[in-house]
Amino acid sequence: MRDSNYLIPWNKNDVERKTTEMLVLGSGIAGLFTAIKLSADFKVTVLTKSNIRESNTEHAQGGIAVALNEDDSPEFHFGDTIKAGAGLCNIEAVKILAENGPECVREIIAMGAQFDKLNDRLKFTREAAHSKSRVLHAKGDATGEEIEKVLVADIKKRSIEVQENVFVIDLLINNQGAVAGVLALNNNTGRLEAWLAKAVILATGGLGRLYKYTTNPEVTTGDGIAAAYRAGAELMDMEFIQFHPTALLLKGAPTFLISEAARGEGAKLINSRGEYFMESIPDQELAPRDVVARAIWNEMREGQVFLDFRNLGTRVKERFPSIYKNCLQYGIDLTTTPVPVGPAAHYLMGGVKVNIAGETNLANLYACGECACNGVHGANRLASNSLLDGLVFAKAITERIRAKNSPLNKWEDIVPPANYPVTAPKPSPDAERMLEKIREIMWSKVGIIRDAEGLKEAMDRLQVLWEEYEPDTKQKSLEVANMLTLSLVIVQAALSRQESRGGHYRSDFPETRNEWQKHSVQQRGVSHVRYVSI
Ligand code: SIN
Repeated sequence: MRDSNYLIPWNKNDVERKTTEMLVLGSGIAGLFTAIKLSADFKVTVLTKSNIRESNTEHAQGGIAVALNEDDSPEFHFGDTIKAGAGLCNIEAVKILAENGPECVREIIAMGAQFDKLNDRLKFTREAAHSKSRVLHAKGDATGEEIEKVLVADIKKRSIEVQENVFVIDLLINNQGAVAGVLALNNNTGRLEAWLAKAVILATGGLGRLYKYTTNPEVTTGDGIAAAYRAGAELMDMEFIQFHPTALLLKGAPTFLISEAARGEGAKLINSRGEYFMESIPDQELAPRDVVARAIWNEMREGQVFLDFRNLGTRVKERFPSIYKNCLQYGIDLTTTPVPVGPAAHYLMGGVKVNIAGETNLANLYACGECACNGVHGANRLASNSLLDGLVFAKAITERIRAKNSPLNKWEDIVPPANYPVTAPKPSPDAERMLEKIREIMWSKVGIIRDAEGLKEAMDRLQVLWEEYEPDTKQKSLEVANMLTLSLVIVQAALSRQESRGGHYRSDFPETRNEWQKHSVQQRGVSHVRYVSI
């Protein structure tokens, strides 16, 4: 595959030209909240590669953590987030998250979000590593769906342009090296489009699909992060991937998330002999996610692991209706039968490096939500902090963008790829086969437990795939190129960090070490991983 700031060759005559003022990429919580906040002052266009509802947000079950309960406070929320982040949280970002969270959540409640209540009072649940019950939920286990529904309804009331089925391939760079817009494939027309804007806001989500087993939907292929990396954006903390301890693990069934809130409400983990194997671990089922995921992983060497809901009785149907129905569809009645579970890739703590106002190292490029990294989650995100992150930092970005109000870029300033026209290389025929290989390598060598030998093998095998792969202009093929790019980035960061911390566990360096209390930074064209303290 070519190593260039554009994935495919193109020139200005090939593309349909479009303009807007604010270009928001992605339609999960972060993208939609950004679009809403900007819409009073700017012409806003949202580009989303599937339909507007399809994102990680839509599938979020457990809830949204926020210090609104009577016995809670932003200080407690701050403390728990810092503790979960394993020494790598950006203190300022965590303060902003905890302190501004209540106002943002009140705002979406005012927009119509209905969180579960008891006698007219909000109901809060407990999740791992939270010292208080502070997780709001909706319809039991459909929190993301409720929030997404409300945001989409609000978007429709405003003059925000939403373009569905438009896949962003790359960022357009102008002759000053600033971001000027995007190159996109419009799957409705089959044409390439070039969108000019004053600013581009990446809210394209994570990259769970790099892994064979993931709780994430199909759209999570890291496209925004890969495009930013090609354009020269710095990426931070890419070695920190969170593996959710409990996804459905049943032959023929998707790795559907079984929310952590289930353990918060009393569901217990058991091994194939029916033993409660978390008893000896501090905080047991509510230990941090990486601890529970590794305990399950180790137990799975001996046999299948199950999550046992039986002590919840029939309450499981009302508290976790989606999980209950989904398991029943595969023949498992949770009121009588423990469900087989295993860890699965769930969340990227790293992403495009941003400051607390969402600014990247490239002018006019901002990022928020899972694709961004300001260090708020450190090495390990606290459960249910991701939806809150999406709201709080989307809002912070819009304040900065409004203050800056950069001019619209001009067509003549855009710099297309230098190597055009070229005879396009023969595209690799089989993106699916390539993807299977990538996902297998990432799962077996760059997963829950890593070591130098496995990571080096992963690097070698991915390099071979890189050499042999050329994308065509179909979305699937371009997604695979992005996944290959990001897999190599993750392996490089994981190999470089010679310690274990949060979501990054090295069996050859099992200790957390003070000298590694710093953030990794990677940039295209720079061969080594840099480290910074923030
Ligand atoms: C869950 O419901 O367990 C997922 C929530 C999260 O990832 O924060």
